[in-house]
Amino acid sequence: PVPERVEDLLKRMTLEEKVAQMCQYVGLDHMRQAEKDLSKEDMEKSDAQGFYPNLHSSDVERLVEQGMIGSFLHVVDVKEANYLQSLAQKSRLKIPLLIGIDAIHGTALVNGATVYPTPIGLASTWDTALVKKMSVETAKEMRATGATWTFTPNVDVAREARWGRVGETFGEDPFLVAEMGVAMIEGLQNTTHPDSFNVIACAKHLIAGSESVNGLNGAPTDLSERTIREVFLRPYKAAVDAGVFSVMTAHNELNGIACHADEWMMTDVLRNELGFEGFIVSDWMDIERLATRHFVAENQTEACYQTVKAGMDMHMHGPDFLEPIVELVQQNRLTEERINESLRRLLEAKFRLGLFENPYASETQTDAVLFNEAHQQTALEAAQKSIVLLKNEGRLLPLQKGQYKKVFVTGPNAHNETVLGDWAYQQPEENTITILEGLQQTDESARIDYLNVGNNPNDVTEKQVKEARLRAQKADLAIVVVGENSFRWDWNNKTCGENSARSDIKLGGLQQQLVEAVYASGTPTIVVLVNGRPLATEWIAENVPVVVEAWEPGSFGGKALAQILYGEVNPSAKLPISIPRSVGHQLAIYNHKPSHYFHKYVDAQSGPLFPFGHGLSYSDFIYQNLRLSKETISADESLMLKVEVTNTSDVAGEEVVQVYLNDKYCPVTRPVKELKAFRRIRLEAGETAQVTFTITPDMLQYLDKDFKPVIDEGEFTAMVGGSSADNNLLTIPFFVK
Ligand code: IFM
Repeated sequence: PVPERVEDLLKRMTLEEKVAQMCQYVGLDHMRQAEKDLSKEDMEKSDAQGFYPNLHSSDVERLVEQGMIGSFLHVVDVKEANYLQSLAQKSRLKIPLLIGIDAIHGTALVNGATVYPTPIGLASTWDTALVKKMSVETAKEMRATGATWTFTPNVDVAREARWGRVGETFGEDPFLVAEMGVAMIEGLQNTTHPDSFNVIACAKHLIAGSESVNGLNGAPTDLSERTIREVFLRPYKAAVDAGVFSVMTAHNELNGIACHADEWMMTDVLRNELGFEGFIVSDWMDIERLATRHFVAENQTEACYQTVKAGMDMHMHGPDFLEPIVELVQQNRLTEERINESLRRLLEAKFRLGLFENPYASETQTDAVLFNEAHQQTALEAAQKSIVLLKNEGRLLPLQKGQYKKVFVTGPNAHNETVLGDWAYQQPEENTITILEGLQQTDESARIDYLNVGNNPNDVTEKQVKEARLRAQKADLAIVVVGENSFRWDWNNKTCGENSARSDIKLGGLQQQLVEAVYASGTPTIVVLVNGRPLATEWIAENVPVVVEAWEPGSFGGKALAQILYGEVNPSAKLPISIPRSVGHQLAIYNHKPSHYFHKYVDAQSGPLFPFGHGLSYSDFIYQNLRLSKETISADESLMLKVEVTNTSDVAGEEVVQVYLNDKYCPVTRPVKELKAFRRIRLEAGETAQVTFTITPDMLQYLDKDFKPVIDEGEFTAMVGGSSADNNLLTIPFFVK
């Protein structure tokens, strides 16, 4: 049994060998690249970025042989992974390495891998079974390249669109984020046997870095304990209940305490209250930043002391951890038993991954696993279900093949890798279908006139805008693909993604002018958005007849988009995040408090541009006959809710049925509505389905003044429909006595 194997190994380890297991380093190729690209001065200057001028890849190799490193990250090649493991096998105790990677939508940093839609797109599917399936496949592709740990799911609740990382999240709703996070964790870890893991998942970033001041990544967060508990901690509770085996702490400080030194959050809340049993890893160089950015530690030794005392188990990345921790134990500031606690968790992970039996990935299998046909199919299905049809005025869509002979296509995202999103490597050209390629393949009879305006959304020129209008005039249909660029390997053009916050959330550069010029041509116009964060596109939503939110749909994004435009696929995605009208409208969340819109803006319409849960279909769904099994229940009783949904159109389609609850009078203010359940259903043309949900007591709970979960007596309202907007919801009251 694993615990006995852990204890047996632990007894044979020196203090240094133990602390070494808590040390993670960046992969050799990554280091070599930095050695090649950066001068010694640059490295020194960029020390905070994790480059060490006096540490070379050859030193790291030696440290592995000496058993002085326990883990690596950013190893993107199976040969390198196996080579590192072979070095670890030369060490005294032959403890295998844990190899981690940011495989957040497929193991997309690996060349040749399947790239699924980014998480905001995955959340738009509202299809947990599909997310679980793509996570099982991701785990297989990771294993095939030697990685056994992924820094995902990102369960940050994202309500601040200026933050660059919204695309990595599942959106604004704690329940939807939790459901998606759990699906991912189950798919990745796939704990069919209690003693084994497929790969290890990581819930990140503890906590609330998604709502930092001004939306700047790593800037301070100041939020009440109530908001932290009601909104940001809920997905962590779900993740812990699902057995997630690692958690990553956040760059930011929360209410004055740096997250990497927050004993209350890491130990009191995560471990003791939520019952987390896995290990905690720091984010990149953030232990160092306790001294160099937050100034809560005077030096690196003090920073190491604070973080381990608070509950940290592993340092990402580099050499500045082992010696300070060994010293701290020798000085009796940290006990060896505290180190053993971390060790038990880290060794358990390695045993449960089967790494002691076989640390190597089979190099002959890699090519057969990566981007195999089954995975391609899932990526395509995920893309089809993730693309949200925001507006379809006059039913311009679906397009008929052959209907528009000359199609004008332009925009910075029409023909490049932005469809792959952040945390993706440049993929073989033939593995990615851009929007332009998807359109070309789907209606071969159409003559496409493509105006290339470059890859940088901010670099569209006035000349291109003028030319676009002229060329659109000569076409029967115009498709403008605008948005953002979060593709990691296109640093100079990046406007979204990690460390790419924006002070505004309008379309950048002259993209708005580009859309207006094409629209002014008089040619029927479709706007497709490829972006990681919600964009304030009020003019477009009011004027352009068709608006599609494609997010970053992955390897097959272009194909899925074209299939939707041409009606080969009926759109079914729903927004997992409200789209604000402007940067000033944030937080335009659906689950706001009752007094939020008591007063309105004097200069703009209040409320979101597109509400949470919104998404159109080519089918028409009507909701009728909402009823409950009882009108009055006691606080420990469940309730059955039934609703009839009919597809009144003549095309089959899928609908996401959403259930919201409101607690009418309560000593603590409650949101106007909170998502409590949802189900994706398929209805043939003319078909009616009776959809049943169980309202359980935990769905009625709120946190009282002392943060204890309680149920309030009195009136509740259940709301059911196809979006969170009031005019889309049927309502029914019930009472708790
Ligand atoms: O996993 C990421 C994290 O989300 C941001 N900083 C770097 C880590 C490792 O790449």
